[in-house]
This record gives sequence, C-alpha cells and structure tokens, in this order.
Amino acid sequence: SQYRLGMIGLGTMGRNLLLNMADKGFAVTGYDKDPKMLAKLEEEGKEHQLKGFADLESFVGSLRTPRTLVLLVPAGQIVDNVIQELKPLLSEGDIIIDSGNSYFTDTTRRVEELAKDGLHFFGMGISGGEEGARFGPSMMPGGDKKAYAEVREILEAVAAKVGNDACVTYIGPGASGHFVKMTHNGIEYAIMQLLAETYQVLKHGFGYDNKQINETFANWNKGPLQSFLVEITAEIFLFKDDKTGNDLVDMIKDEARSKGTGKWTSEIAMDLQLPVPIINEAVSNRDLSKYKSLRSTLAERYPEHSSSKSSISPEQLEQAFYFAVATAYAQGMHLLWQASRQYEYELDLAEIAKIWRGGCIIRAAFLEDIYQAYQRDGGLEHLFLDPQIAGKISAASPALRQLIADAAMSGMALPAYSSALTYFDTIRTARMPSNLIQAQRDFFGAHTFERIDSEGTFHANWNNL
Ligand code: 6PG
Repeated sequence: SQYRLGMIGLGTMGRNLLLNMADKGFAVTGYDKDPKMLAKLEEEGKEHQLKGFADLESFVGSLRTPRTLVLLVPAGQIVDNVIQELKPLLSEGDIIIDSGNSYFTDTTRRVEELAKDGLHFFGMGISGGEEGARFGPSMMPGGDKKAYAEVREILEAVAAKVGNDACVTYIGPGASGHFVKMTHNGIEYAIMQLLAETYQVLKHGFGYDNKQINETFANWNKGPLQSFLVEITAEIFLFKDDKTGNDLVDMIKDEARSKGTGKWTSEIAMDLQLPVPIINEAVSNRDLSKYKSLRSTLAERYPEHSSSKSSISPEQLEQAFYFAVATAYAQGMHLLWQASRQYEYELDLAEIAKIWRGGCIIRAAFLEDIYQAYQRDGGLEHLFLDPQIAGKISAASPALRQLIADAAMSGMALPAYSSALTYFDTIRTARMPSNLIQAQRDFFGAHTFERIDSEGTFHANWNNL
C-alpha cells in the first residue's frame, strides 16, 4: 500500500482535483468503472505517471492506512451505493470525503451511520468549477475534527491561495461543510440574478449595446465590486457565436436551469425561519424564466412596458449593485449564523468569509470586508450591524431607491434589487405592522397575541365590537 489518497469518480471534477494533488507532489490514485475515464486520467496525468484502477478492491488495497477516499460522484443515491460497496473493504479510522453537492441532511445521516463502524465521513463542498478543481478551489470540509488533521496538509496544498492563506479550513462537525457550500450556492444564485437584472437595466434603461455592457462590468471589476462573477459576466458580452457571428449571449434562450442547491438554501432558510428573500427571488426567477410561452402571451396582453429611460447614472447603478450584493451576502451569512446555533455547527464566520475570498464562484473583493467585520466581532448577528458595512450601505441606499422607482414606473421587473431594498427597509423597522396579523389571527382563530405592556398571552372577544 503506497498511495496517500484515492479518488472515486474520475469525471472532470474528480480528475482535475486528482491532477492538482499530483502536481503538489502527493502520491494519489483514482478509481472509475468507466475505462474511458481511466484512459483520460492516464493521458492527462502522464507527467506524474498517474494510473487509476477499475477494480475497487485493488484500488482500496493500494491506499496507505488510515485510508483517505474522496468521492466525486453525482449527489444522491449513487453516493449511498458507493459507500455500500466500499464499506466491507474499509477499516476503522478510514476517512471518506464526499465532495459532491450532497444535500446536507443526507450527509448528517451518512456521518452517523458510518460512525457506527468507526469510519469518518466528511461532507466537503468544493467550489470553483473545473478550473478551480484543477488549479485551486475553495473547499469546505465538515466532519470529525481529529480526522481532519489527516487530510489537512493535502487540502491546504491544493486549495486556492489568497496571499499565504489557503482557501480551505475545518468548517465544523457533521454536515456543516455541505451546509456552508449550499449557502455559498444560494448567494451565487442571488448575485447571478442581480447581474442579470443589471444587464436588463443597462440594455433597456440605459440603451447600452453589448460592447458598452462589457465595458461597464469590466470597469466595475477594477474597483470595490471586483469579483469572479462580474469578471466573467463582462467577458460574456464580448463572445461571438461561431454559427451566426452574432454575440452569443443574444442567441441563448432566456430559460435558466438549476440543479437545486439554490432551492435547498431557500427551503432550509424557511425551515429555520431565517429569511433569505433575495435568494428566494433568484430561485423563483429561474423558474419563471421557464414559462416562456405564457410570458410571451402575457407580453402581448399587457403591453405596458414603456421605453422610459433610467434616470440614474452608471455610478449610481454601481452603488445600487453594491448595496444589493452586500445584502445578499448578509442574508447568506445570517443563515449560517442561525444554522450554526440550530445544528451546533460552531461555525467561525470569519474563517468562512476568509476561505471564500479565493477559488470559489462567489469570490469577491467585498469578502475581505465581510472577513474583517467578523474578525472585529465573531458573534456578529448580522452584517448590517458592523459599523463599516453600515456606513457603506447607508451611502449606497439612495441610488437603489432611485433605480427601483424608475424601474417601477417603466414596468421593468427588478425582483432581486427590489427584494434587497424591501429587506433593508423591513429589517430596519423597529415596529412592523405585524401586530395587525396577530389581531387577525386571534379574531378568526383565537390564536392569541402578546401585549406590549404585560407578559403572557391574551385573547380578545373581537366579535363584541
Ligand atoms: C461552484 C458551483 C457549482 C455548480 C453549481 C451550479 O461553487 O463551483 O456552485 O457547485 O456550478 O452547482 O448550480 P446550478 O446548476 O443549480 O446553477
């Protein structure tokens, strides 16, 4: 037994991560049932003489103990199937790291089941796509803290770096790694939706062509809004279609797909009663985009969209975007804060912001501000409470108000932007009108209410007016 780590699943992600590990000098190997995948590994890993196995038993036998196995297979039943096949071949102390986008409660179940056999199961979110896996992803491993020491060196070596900091850290026990990755994806959905709405404003509100849209985003990417998603968005507007010579973006159907992690974030947030409305809007709008024929019919029925131009300047739009993106991160971090209490994940929010600064899809200059906010106060309940972020949010809010006002008057839908503003205006309201909801509930269902001037629950005979 010679290999330090074995990868199960040699598709692009698994293969790239394995090649990354081999680059860093680790003796690693892989397993895949599909001979084509093994051939690809051999071809791409020629330099390191990387060879894989098609036989699970010899693969497992080739690993030094305690064994470390990384799974990069599609989330769901396949993960359970692989675990069942592996289990008889493993021994106490071995570590399985599931690196797919698994649903976090599946991870909780697997951690508990495997612990009975003395096996350590880690749920590890990996972000950064194919490039990230190959040259430096951000990784979010959760599981047994002591077992983490076994894999720490290799993960730190392959992770993206920001200065000297590796974009990986021990996240917490149980399924915390997958929970944090899921939340990362929720934030990813929100920012992508905000960028799509910004595109709408630039195109219809400002009357920009694709070149000008590219320049706007490229310009933003040089300042405080610097981020991976802004960067690639800028590039998209330069890309030509081979087939027609048009800009490719104009040739793509306006129907967005999804694999589910954004929806999970919204669902869990509702279960935890911790609202993340911008993420909800992002999920809903991907879904609304699929009703193409209904939208086309209704577009004819309600031709109310006027072509009135946006009255704000590009700088104000930049401020509005800053505000909305900050709010999306704030909602995601708030969800992590609550999940940490609910599931006893003991999350270190500063560390999470720190490892998101590089490698992952939501990496952004703004994460440095978030990192610093949680360094100032690790127990910070909400990012809006941080004095530095508060100052920036307050300065940016007038621009967002004007953007929304113009959009409302011209009939342009800006759901994520609107949601950001509404969330801000709600969460800074000391007395909401929710007293009326309680009165209504008590009126029709005797659900009782609490009073502002005394403890306890009360019921009124509302019918005795
Ligand atoms: C990442 C991405 C990655 C994947 C998303 C896409 O962090 O590298 O988030 O995990 O690209 O799952 O999600 P949708 O298919 O739902 O858009």
